[in-house]
Amino acid sequence: MGIFIKFFALTILVAFGAVVYQIFLTPDPEVPVIPEKWFGRQQLKAGEPIPKDPLTINRFTINVSDEVLTDLKHRLDLARFVEPLPGTQFNYGFNGNYLKQVVDYWKTKYDWRQQEKELNKFNHFKTQINGIDIHFIHVKPSKPAKTVVPILISHGWPGSVLEYYKAIPLLTEPTNGVAFEVICPSIPGYGWSEAPHQTGFNVPQTARIYVKLMERLNHKTFFVHGGDYGSLIGRTMAILYPEHIRGLHTTMAGSTNKGLSLIKSIIGAYFPQLVFDNPEADYKKMFPFWENIRFMVRESGYMHIQSTRPDTVGAAMLDSPVGLAAYILEKFSVWTNPAFLDKPDGGLTEKFTLDELLTNIMIYWTSNNVASSMRYYKENVPLLFIDFNIHEFRIKASVPSAVADFPHELMRFPYSVTKHQYENLIQYTSMPRGGHFAAFEEPKLVADDIKTFVSKVLKK
Ligand SMILES: *[C@@H]1O[C@H](CO)[C@@H](O)[C@H](O)[C@H]1NC(C)=O
Repeated sequence: MGIFIKFFALTILVAFGAVVYQIFLTPDPEVPVIPEKWFGRQQLKAGEPIPKDPLTINRFTINVSDEVLTDLKHRLDLARFVEPLPGTQFNYGFNGNYLKQVVDYWKTKYDWRQQEKELNKFNHFKTQINGIDIHFIHVKPSKPAKTVVPILISHGWPGSVLEYYKAIPLLTEPTNGVAFEVICPSIPGYGWSEAPHQTGFNVPQTARIYVKLMERLNHKTFFVHGGDYGSLIGRTMAILYPEHIRGLHTTMAGSTNKGLSLIKSIIGAYFPQLVFDNPEADYKKMFPFWENIRFMVRESGYMHIQSTRPDTVGAAMLDSPVGLAAYILEKFSVWTNPAFLDKPDGGLTEKFTLDELLTNIMIYWTSNNVASSMRYYKENVPLLFIDFNIHEFRIKASVPSAVADFPHELMRFPYSVTKHQYENLIQYTSMPRGGHFAAFEEPKLVADDIKTFVSKVLKK
């Protein structure tokens, strides 16, 4: 017993020391300079200057070869399925019975050529930056507008530019004389963007390359919106390159373990009415603590694998369309609503169509980019925990910022906690419904929130 109490006291002391250290003793770092790096296939010798990229921007049309589609059909025909245990739904992973139905649909009803036409309805382009081809969609306002506002929109994993297909027309449609010019890139290593051929392609490098892309399109300043990794990329762009970013809008709120955000989180766990504006609702965004931790541990196994051995799981995903569909679509189930775990079909078609979901899978499958998309975790997550989180994110985004908080988002922070991570959080919306793939699920809520935010910034 005595030893237990000593151990307990020691744990409290260490935790207290860590908190004091985090809050008071670690200085805010300088904004780092992200070095220009080469990611092309060609191996540079030590000290060799980075080759110049051609500055051309080329039209790109999605056109998967018949060979790829025939090969896919063979693989789907040969699929083997897991037999689910009695009484299990999605809580043991993607339900084998439902997977069989999805694959049947894929083989007999899903029409890729039709989907390809839909995908090609926006203009696609590629341009080379630091040795790799960057793919992006570029959509100008649908009608002449008094004010045209450029905005870069970034997806994350396991999404793609497809997530924004419903929101883009809402943004390019003029509202009160304002319309957006949307630039929506595929993260390098995702979809039709070339995969980096060298190590070290992380969020800060993505931020740097996105700014270069916008400069190449003659946009010195622009707005940025993102979800999932796109939220981190957007926030990083605002932190590293504030002179280019007129406003930052994300669906994942920023938080670090430092300063007033941390103090309020700790107090809020016990005395929500002392620190939260809306004690009951705000408390639910972060607590009960252990319930949240259990949820994060239960749902983040993929992250541990991808942050350590992406090429091992990548080998399986690159080789099996059925495995790929199960692995990715499981996220579209539980990240849209955690209660969907208890549904035999994972609730997948409550918010999305099978066509939409399979097209997102096809983007990963036909581009051969699934392993590279997972490597992004290897390049980022160790950095997030060891360096990035307690480094760049210690610096507050200074540009006008907005957070759209969706009730089923994976990580949520109330306004009173997250506002200390921004110097200028001018808008925070608690959304009535929606989950992690916010723009895919609720395009109008996201587009309207962006419009409201941008009009506030333009008025200033
Ligand atoms: C796709 O490629 C095929 C074969 O090269 C060509 O016949 C077809 O016109 C292309 N389709 C589009 C939409 O570019």
